[in-house]
Amino acid sequence: MKWIGAVLAVCVLVPSAHCASDAIPWCYHLPTCNDVTWPTIATKFCNGSRQSPIDIVSASAHIDSKLTAFTFYNFSSNTSLKKIENTGKTVKVTFNSGVKISGGDLSEVYDSLQFHLHWGNGFSVPGSEHTVNGKRYPMELHIVNIKSSYNGNTTQAVADSTGLAALGFLIEEMEGNATGQPASWFTLSSYLSSISNGGESVSVKAGISLDDLLPGVDRTKYFRYLGSLTTPSCNEAVVWTVFKETVKVSRDVINMFSKITHISNSTSPIIINNYRNLQPAQRVTTTSSTSKTCASLGLLALSLLLRT
Ligand SMILES: *[C@@H]1O[C@H](CO)[C@@H](O)[C@H](O)[C@H]1NC(C)=O
Ligand SMILES: *[C@@H]1O[C@H](CO)[C@@H](O)[C@H](O)[C@H]1NC(C)=O
Ligand SMILES: *[C@@H]1O[C@H](CO)[C@@H](O)[C@H](O)[C@H]1NC(C)=O
Ligand SMILES: *[C@@H]1O[C@H](CO)[C@@H](O)[C@H](O)[C@H]1NC(C)=O
Ligand SMILES: *[C@@H]1O[C@H](CO)[C@@H](O)[C@H](O)[C@H]1NC(C)=O
Ligand SMILES: *[C@@H]1O[C@H](CO)[C@@H](O)[C@H](O)[C@H]1NC(C)=O
Ligand SMILES: [Zn+2]
Repeated sequence: MKWIGAVLAVCVLVPSAHCASDAIPWCYHLPTCNDVTWPTIATKFCNGSRQSPIDIVSASAHIDSKLTAFTFYNFSSNTSLKKIENTGKTVKVTFNSGVKISGGDLSEVYDSLQFHLHWGNGFSVPGSEHTVNGKRYPMELHIVNIKSSYNGNTTQAVADSTGLAALGFLIEEMEGNATGQPASWFTLSSYLSSISNGGESVSVKAGISLDDLLPGVDRTKYFRYLGSLTTPSCNEAVVWTVFKETVKVSRDVINMFSKITHISNSTSPIIINNYRNLQPAQRVTTTSSTSKTCASLGLLALSLLLRT
């Protein structure tokens, strides 16, 4: 989850390729500013007690019947993606207004602001932020949403323990030898060459919807916990939802994300391994799973059989 508070405000006032790193000198790639140092760079929150990301242990997740389905507004719209940007830390896509979510035991409607990605180094060095049962996935997509009552004021949202809601989707390599799949992801990756330097952005042409980018994911199955932004200043303001099913993307498209975008200009390093290391466990809840129900029905049938 990308930091969206004061640094963003400073960057609006002082636009420059190096703005974000000038405001708070955090990074992923150097021992002097990587995530090990964040608790000393941003002491107020990064050393807190409900930090993200975490390893989700599915067997320890408590089933919660309040974790109902979400309603996704304008996720099917092929004109809701506005701008794609190389922030120097991630690739971020902002939304036009009107994209929002409700349900899923959220206390109110949340407006969707942007999504961004975390990755490793090609398909073989995984870089998701959350891990599930110890497994790290090649990439992770975060959709950032803000309580609609804050009207987009992130300063207020990060001061509220549930001010933001993040939707995490784990990206997995597609089976077989497909290339350029899904088409929506191929289209997304084709923008990277236009934003190869930090601070660059271009507008996104009509044609891809959020639904297109999230094919095959049953969005009624997810994990839930209360955590934080995964970048400085790590505000503990995030209701996390991590979906159980993965988005399948072909290997060539996954590889694109760790090949083209630089931290700043073309002589600076390529952005790789832009994920924060795991933080201490939190209480995780989960939607009830049908497979579990099937398994226990199976066991019940078996025990009835054995009894006769
Ligand atoms: C975090 O850092 C602050 C400032 O140094 C300190 O006051 C606080 O006790 C630390 N919290 C934890 C949980 O270590
Ligand atoms: C979102 O949906 C509303 C109607 O539900 C529509 O008026 C609006 O144009 C849509 N916005 C986008 C960005 O697609
Ligand atoms: C956001 O809210 C804070 C705190 O209430 C306020 O000081 C600030 O002016 C607001 N920012 C905007 C852009 O409205
Ligand atoms: C993928 O390509 C390899 C090498 O060309 C081939 O041996 C394999 O059968 C292919 N797999 C699938 C699922 O098509
Ligand atoms: C966007 O969606 C509309 C209606 O759903 C469709 O008519 C149009 O062809 C789509 N545009 C693109 C560029 O895919
Ligand atoms: C790239 O940035 C570095 C440091 O920010 C600077 O020293 C160098 O001159 C820049 N190179 C180009 C080609 O702009
Ligand atoms: Zn993120």
